[in-house]
Amino acid sequence: MATYAIETRELRKRYRTRLGGFLRGQYKWVEALRGVSFHVDWGEIYGLLGPNGAGKTTTVKIIATLLEPDSGDAFVAGYSSVRDPGRVRQIIGVMLSVERGFFWKLTARENLKYFGMLYGLPSSKLGDKIEEVLELTGLKELGAEEKRFEDMSLGMKARLGLARALLKDPQVLLLDEPTLGLDPPSARHIRGLLRELANDGRAVLVTTHNMFEAEILCDRIGIISDGRIVAEGPPQELKRRVSDTVSITATLTGIVAEGLSAKVSGSGYRMLYRVEGERVRVRIQAKRGEEVEVLNLLTRLARDSGTRILEVRVEEPTLEDVFIAITGGGRWE
Ligand SMILES: Nc1ncnc2c1ncn2[C@@H]1O[C@H](COP(=O)(O)OP(=O)(O)OP(=O)(O)O)[C@@H](O)[C@H]1O
Ligand SMILES: [Mg+2]
Repeated sequence: MATYAIETRELRKRYRTRLGGFLRGQYKWVEALRGVSFHVDWGEIYGLLGPNGAGKTTTVKIIATLLEPDSGDAFVAGYSSVRDPGRVRQIIGVMLSVERGFFWKLTARENLKYFGMLYGLPSSKLGDKIEEVLELTGLKELGAEEKRFEDMSLGMKARLGLARALLKDPQVLLLDEPTLGLDPPSARHIRGLLRELANDGRAVLVTTHNMFEAEILCDRIGIISDGRIVAEGPPQELKRRVSDTVSITATLTGIVAEGLSAKVSGSGYRMLYRVEGERVRVRIQAKRGEEVEVLNLLTRLARDSGTRILEVRVEEPTLEDVFIAITGGGRWE
């Protein structure tokens, strides 16, 4: 039987958090994962897509042997992350938060040298390997090899994170939000590189809350919400599930989004929203043919709540609509 590159079976994880305020000293349990099962094939880019707090990082950390699940198991090339973490670590390249884990006063090249030695790479090969990953990640092209970590842009730091993950020539890559906050050229470069790595037969697991990115980058997507995978499939297939809908998107100013969301759902529609500073971007899902009703509803609600509509559009379904259809919408950040 062929083994999957990555497999998780019914992962569950709770965190105990300390409460503040007048409940100081007491604890509460947070259910981060409520039974997460999926697999990633060799040569595939799989995206775990979900909003803040959905459980993406927790899932990646468990597969990467950095955290133990309460129950369930994760496997990399057939080896258990729980029972055989040493084996798993030999196969994976991991990139968690962009900013963490580097020496601020060392240059890109010096950092890579340090980690290469730490990973036990033979010194005869280390030099070449470092040049190779500097090249692959575009750090050379940017002239960033001799830059200290503290002087690097976020895009350079992300590339360095990926360079470090590639040092051991891993067959499986685990990347937590690798393009978060990056400038478009850096994000594009990283996506291109991940595609090349997958084309060579490696398995790539990425997490993202960027729907656009998930759609253009991933072969398959698992939509994760509140500790569960609620939908899975290739992006086009997922979108077909909502092909009978359209969405009215609007940018509003000066409103309480929760109130509007409640009123919209009170009218039988589903809405996703995003708070962007002083503005709110909303996306209301409608059956085809109901566009005008939703536009009227939105105008009325905006007027009643003293909100200005800055922009409104009717859009074809995206992955956001898959999320709205399955979870009922809510806040997405
Ligand atoms: N160390 C921790 N202690 C307590 N609660 C935690 C801890 N780490 C995560 N959580 C909680 O577990 C849930 C899942 O968190 P996780 O970081 O896995 O989500 P995420 O999908 O990566 O979110 P984000 O998009 O914000 O990175 C959240 O409710 C989070 O607040
Ligand atoms: Mg996270």
